[in-house]
Amino acid sequence: MNIIRNIKGTHDIIPPETKHWRKLEGIVNDNCSKFGFEEIRSPIFEQTKLFLRSVGEETDIVSKEMYTWIDRDGTSLTLRPELTASIVRSYIQNNLGAKSPNQKLYYMGPLFRRERPQKGRQRQFHQFGVEALGSEHPEMDAEIISIAWNILSDCGLSHTTQLQLNSIGSKKCRDTFKEALKSYLLPYLDEFSETSQKRFSENTLRMLDTKSKDEQLILNNAPKISEFYTEEDQDHFDTLKKLLTDINIPFKINPKLVRGLDYYSRTVFEFTCSELGAQDAILGGGRYDNLVENLGGKPTPGIGFAAGMERFLIAMDNKDDQPQIDIYSACIVKDGLSASLSISNKLRKLGFSVITDSLRRSLKSQMREANKMGAKYIIILGEEELKEEVFIVKDLKKSVQSIFQETELMKFFENLTI
Ligand code: HAM
Repeated sequence: MNIIRNIKGTHDIIPPETKHWRKLEGIVNDNCSKFGFEEIRSPIFEQTKLFLRSVGEETDIVSKEMYTWIDRDGTSLTLRPELTASIVRSYIQNNLGAKSPNQKLYYMGPLFRRERPQKGRQRQFHQFGVEALGSEHPEMDAEIISIAWNILSDCGLSHTTQLQLNSIGSKKCRDTFKEALKSYLLPYLDEFSETSQKRFSENTLRMLDTKSKDEQLILNNAPKISEFYTEEDQDHFDTLKKLLTDINIPFKINPKLVRGLDYYSRTVFEFTCSELGAQDAILGGGRYDNLVENLGGKPTPGIGFAAGMERFLIAMDNKDDQPQIDIYSACIVKDGLSASLSISNKLRKLGFSVITDSLRRSLKSQMREANKMGAKYIIILGEEELKEEVFIVKDLKKSVQSIFQETELMKFFENLTI
């Protein structure tokens, strides 16, 4: 019979990988808390219109990649392809702005995009991310980028990643820039791919991040968005650059960085990682000063980022796959099972990790297993010990053993720091 397999583009996260996930989750929790960010969890699926109105109908995510279906009551629902829209929806719905004028939230969880699977690109993937709602000032941008930088550093990735930074200006700036870009590109339009031509009328800015070398050549002489910044846009961007320089976060200005979601304004950024191959964007984000208002809330500026957790784990290349346990409890006599289970539980209460055998294997194979699992001690309970009401405790590193009664054994482990 054929076995049932998982769906293309999804992955089981199995041991020892789960350990690496928990390490990354720990680093994220720790860093976000240090910046005063609190965790938010939102549902996996939402009304489709949430993503149409925020991410944008013409973006790749919405037009090609969403898992959408009509529910039994006729509502169109979608598995979330990103989390900023959901967080902003929740912020408005739960009136979080009333709780704090500067809401600082972070999240982790699965997302769904029907992309062509390859290394570092899945259909179900995971992100961690942060969103700060309430401040329009560049010091908020610098703080958001600092969180990303600190997490990357704690994961050992600050040397293999590069921060690319740009400002796509305010709406006023983008509207005039779009017109100028269109006038420049119109005579060359035949030389552009079908995808780029489609973007020309609906999402002109996205033409800037084409991968085609020929298209890039034409774009090299196109007007630059920086020529269209308002005074406030320029000031915002200059202050951010100064702050990042002052706090020693290296960055590179990339005037072509526009990002693939419609809600951005002013600051956009992406960390790319040299260890990742084609899918090298490890973390991306930016400002979305009009999104809360566009989704029906009071005008509230916002900024955040999200990072691909699978990409983080590929880049971190964890090698410490060896399991580590403190004590292996080997019982080789059926009548001793209660005593063995009981002493194991007491030791767990002291804080040790204790593994027991439930396959009724020989002492020899249990010893082999204990070594394989990296146990530091093995406790042996055999016929003789059961009769004498004692346990053998063997230090597997020093290869020395002692015989203890239960109270002595507990005292021995109580005084031990493993
Ligand atoms: P995004 O650039 O679409 O932004 O995704 C952020 C990160 O998620 C990417 O840099 C990448 O590491 C990871 N990622 C995206 N798609 C996949 C995939 N198919 N497989 C594996 N990893 C993937 C956002 O989602 C915005 N919500 C970020 C944001 C938050 N902007 C403001 N706040």
